[in-house]
Formats: sequence, structure tokens, C-alpha cells
Amino acid sequence: TAEAKQLVPGLAGVPAAESAISYIDGNAGVLEYRGYPIEQLAERSTFEETAWLLMHGQLPTKSQLDAFGRDLSAVRELPDGMLALLGAFPKTAHPMLVLQSAIAALGAFEREVRFGDEEDFRRAWLRILAATPTIVAAFERLRRGEQPVAPRVDLSHAANFLYMLNGEEPDEIAARVLDVALVLHADHTMNASTFAARVVYGTNAGPYDSVSAAVGALHGPLHGGANERVLRSLETIGSVENVRAWADQQFSSKGKIMGFGHRVYKVKDPRSFALQSLGDKMFAKLGHTPIYDVALELEKVVVERLGDKGIHPNVDFFSGIIYQKLGLPTDQFTPIFAIARAAGWLAHLHEQMQDNKLFRPGQIYVGEASRDYVPIDNRV
Ligand code: SDX
Repeated sequence: TAEAKQLVPGLAGVPAAESAISYIDGNAGVLEYRGYPIEQLAERSTFEETAWLLMHGQLPTKSQLDAFGRDLSAVRELPDGMLALLGAFPKTAHPMLVLQSAIAALGAFEREVRFGDEEDFRRAWLRILAATPTIVAAFERLRRGEQPVAPRVDLSHAANFLYMLNGEEPDEIAARVLDVALVLHADHTMNASTFAARVVYGTNAGPYDSVSAAVGALHGPLHGGANERVLRSLETIGSVENVRAWADQQFSSKGKIMGFGHRVYKVKDPRSFALQSLGDKMFAKLGHTPIYDVALELEKVVVERLGDKGIHPNVDFFSGIIYQKLGLPTDQFTPIFAIARAAGWLAHLHEQMQDNKLFRPGQIYVGEASRDYVPIDNRV
């Protein structure tokens, strides 16, 4: 194949695959999963239904959804060896590093997944989707010095995660808020972590290797790690009165303001709107949170200055405020993003499995011309 001569930094806009899973219009602010607008799915779907839709391309029938829920909850438990592994990490370890290690380790405890085998893939799909929340919750309990809480099979994906974290059933509002947040984070075309997963899977490595690689990519502050940093920025700002001074400082230092900007969206991320209205409903029921006012003021100040450059709030801007209101620790916001995005990553791997081609791009060489070896005594 002839090497393209034109470098495209960050492969911006370069199609890496054909995909039918999700669709973005970055100028119109549109996001659809298998053709269904994200706003309708956030309003009317659940994470389980959305995970099925992403994988199979159609909304499940009632019997398909019920069977999927049973199959999923049946494989939530972790083997003792995994709990010992999670207990071996220092309590100061970042939960994303623990999660990346644990996903690969989970694969080491499971039967081999033969590339291209549909039954093997389905088993891994269920296992990774079901066990990721258990891993996140178990490490959270262990680092707090508490015993992990075993998953239950009679609770939904979102409700069971909150149950494993707190040791008690969540109230309906909290479970539904988290469920909607998981729907909103489930897939997003060829983002960095999905691309990472597809690159690894392209070598015919397995789903555990590939999802572990995706977790690594998601950890970065330019990607999923932004949600944790947005909340820290809002806490640093502290009040509405301090927003402008803080933002001016960022503008003059040319720093990237976390939660703003996007490679594809040049308008406000539709998920940002959806999370904002989720927050409005939640705060109306559970009580207001002052940090939300700081966020709204920061959005106004940043968009005033950078809006015409196409810099607007992205999915990470409001999510942390909602997670904090649910009592979730700040450094668990990105693991929660991973719990949701596992549905998208695995749908992309299944799509790639149908017609796989090794990812091996080119480069433009800018190094030294060929030259002869110099014996060490002749080097200056
Ligand atoms: C996610 O890809 C996905 O779909 C990701 C995601 C998903 O669901 O998978 O949507 C989830 O990762 C959302 C993004 C979370 N990241 C952040 O909030 C971190 C802050 N955002 C920026 O780092 C940035 O906007 C990126 C990384 C998201 C996108 O960056 P690009 O496309 O590489 O663009 P760029 O960094 O080259 O910026 C272009 C210009 C630059 O100015 P100039 O040098 O041209 O003058 O816009 C400026 C940048 O300085 N800019 C910002 C900014 N984002 C871009 N300036 C201040 N603050 C920002 N946040």
C-alpha cells in the first residue's frame, strides 16, 4: 500500500473503520445509538436495554431483555483470587489503574476466548459488562477498609452497583439517575479508548486485553479522566464570585479547561444538555447543590470567551456534579465512565470481529539518514 504523504495529527477526522453502532453530527450536536437519538434513550431506555441495542443493533423484545438481565446478573461475582488481587493494591492506588489491571486479570481467570467464536465472545461480553462494576465497588470497599459486598442478582445494573458500594439498596431516584448516566456514556463512535480497544483487538488479541487497553486510554485527562478534574476545578473555584478570576487565569496561561472542547462537537455536547436536565430533576428532588451554580457561571464565562472557537461543555462537564450528589468519590467518576463505555467497546469489538484487519498505520520519517556504526573509543 502506498504510504500517504500527509500527516494528520491525532488522526483527526481520519476514518479508521466503517461502523453502524453510533453516529455524531458535531455541528448539529447530534448523537444516535443505532439510529436512536440519545435524548430518547436517556428518557425511556435503561443501561441493560442500551447495551443490548449497541451489541445487536435492535431494541430487545421483552423476553430478550429479561433473559439478558438474568444472564448478566448471573456472572457478576468475582473469584476469590480476584478479591485477593484487589486487596493487594495500596489504598492510594488510582482506581483506574486498578481497573485496568483487574480487567486483564479477569481474563486470566476465565476460559480462553477464541477469536471469531461467537459463543466465546458472548460469554466474554456478559462477563466484562457484569464484573466491571463488581471490580470497581470491591476496590472502593477495600480501600475504605471494608469488606466487599457480594453482588445481588435481583437488582438492576445501576442499582446493584450502588448496593455493592454502600451495602444497602439505593433509593429509586439514585438508581435511575445512575442508570441514565450510564446510558449517556455507553458509546461515542471512534473516541480514543474505543480506537485503542479496536487496535489491540485487531491483532486477534482477546476482549480482556482490548478492554484493559481501552481503560488505559480512558484514564487520561484529555478523555475520560476529565470528569474527575472538572469537579476538582469547581471545588478549587469554590464560589460563583471566584469564577471569572479563575477562568481569566486559565485563559492567560493557555491552559485547557477540563470539561470543555471536543474533537468532533463544535457546539455543546448533547449529552451535556441531557446530564444537565438530569441534574435539574435530581436537585429538585434531592436538594440543590451550590457547586452547580459555580458550573453554570463557569460555562457562561468560558463560552463567552471561547464559544466562537467551537469550545463548549462536553459530556464530562456536568457528570461529576451528579456523581458527587450520589455520594460517589471523585476518583471513581472515570471508573463509572468505564462501566458504561464497556458496552460500547465490546459492541465495537464484535463489529470488528466480523471483518477484522490489523491496524498498522504508516509514519513520515523525520530522523537521521542512514549512517555507519562508530566504535565507542572514537566517540566524542
Ligand atoms: C471525552 O472523543 C470523544 O468522543 C471523547 C468523549 C467520549 O464520549 O468518548 O466525548 C469523552 O473525552 C470528552 C472530552 C474530555 N476532555 C476534556 O474535557 C479535556 C479538555 N478538552 C481539551 O483537551 C480538548 O478540547 C480535547 C482534547 C477534548 C479535544 O482537543 P483537540 O481536538 O485535539 O483540539 P486541540 O487541543 O488542538 O484544541 C484546538 C484549539 C486549541 O487552541 P489553538 O492552539 O488552536 O489556539 O482549541 C483550544 C486549544 O488550545 N482548546 C481549548 C480547550 N479545548 C480546545 N482551550 C481551552 N480549554 C479547552 N478545554
